[in-house]
Formats: sequence, C-alpha cells, structure tokens
Amino acid sequence: MKKQLVFATNNRHKLEEVRLILENTYQVLSLEDMDCWEEIPETGSTLEENARIKARFVWNRYGLDCFADDTGLEVPALNNAPGVYSARYAGEQKNSEENMCKIVWELANKDDWSAHFRTVIALICGGQEYLFEGKINGHLIKEKRGDKGFGYDPIFVPQGQDKTFAELGNEIKNTISHRAIAVNQLKAFLYENLSE
Ligand code: IMP
Repeated sequence: MKKQLVFATNNRHKLEEVRLILENTYQVLSLEDMDCWEEIPETGSTLEENARIKARFVWNRYGLDCFADDTGLEVPALNNAPGVYSARYAGEQKNSEENMCKIVWELANKDDWSAHFRTVIALICGGQEYLFEGKINGHLIKEKRGDKGFGYDPIFVPQGQDKTFAELGNEIKNTISHRAIAVNQLKAFLYENLSE
C-alpha cells in the first residue's frame, strides 16, 4: 500500500503537478481530502517562512507527515518583487490577469526582463522539519501566450525554450519547473531516508 503524505494545498494545478511526480510511491492527499477548507494564513515575509507555516499548520492539526510549498516570481529589475507577494501583487483579490498586467506595466521602461520562479518546500516527517528549494531562470514577455498552466505562466519563458510555460503545458513544465526541481529533491530525500 502506498504511503500517505498530505500536501497543504487546495490548488488543483499544483496538486496535479506534484501527484504526477510522486504517484508511484505516495498517495498525495490535499487539504480538501482532509476536509480542511480553511485558507491557511500566509503571514511570513519570505517563501521559507510561509512554507513552514503551512506545513506546521497541518502537522499541528492532523499529526500526519506533510509538506507545503510557497512559490514566488522574482524579477531582478523590480528588486525581486513580487516574490512572496506574487499571488496578491495587484491586490487581495489574487487575480492572475491583473498581476500579469501590473508586472508588464512595471517593466515597461526597463531593459532587463529576466525573471525566475523560486519554490521552497517545507516537509515535516515524524515532527522533524526539512527544507528544499527549486529555481528556474527565464524572462517575461509583454503579450500573454498559451492557455495551459496558471498564475504568471502565460508571460514566463523558461531559459532554453521559446515558448511560455502556458504554451508548453504540464508534461514539459513538470520536467523543468521550479516546483518540479523542489519536488524531485523532496522525492529523492523521501526515498533515501524514509523508504522501508
Ligand atoms: P503560492 O503561494 O505558492 O501559491 O504561489 C503564489 C503565486 O505565485 C500564485 O498565486 C501564482 O500567481 C504564482 N505562481 C506559483 N507557482 C506558479 C507557477 O508554476 N506558474 C506561474 N505562476 C505561479
């Protein structure tokens, strides 16, 4: 029987990405699967803090091995904004269209459109906490392209590609993305340290 691991999210895009990577060995449960409908407050000022807050929430409430991620788009020309505020860059309504418009507007007079996504994963296993990180470099474009993915995917072109994440789709995104890198680290760790 597969081991269970709670992923502290209800974001179906993230769940799908992560389940594909861990599917052979772990049954990944979402917050919804735990009948948890609360939005866990992300009050940290760094990706690391937020990932740890979310993982601790699940551990404290359910006592189950769990992990949480926090991701930010970091743009050097904007002093690495929006970073930890990526979801609500254009306001509390967390609207991806508005976030993309804002970032394109902010970059209008800049020469450097380079950007990277960074994901931090906090894992709690048997009460012990571990951190993993994944990063992908690329650049942003002015006009949205593609209809797959979510968030900033339509304006992010990963290094080495000429298509946006939203054009590439999950199959390719999953082999190169920030989250895939972090999840693969998590997977390697679980195999090395926790397999029976
Ligand atoms: P979260 O806090 O990890 O959910 O991520 C914060 C925000 O970053 C999300 O609301 C999205 O706008 C953006 N984001 C996270 N991961 C991705 C991704 O893989 N592609 C595009 N945008 C993302």
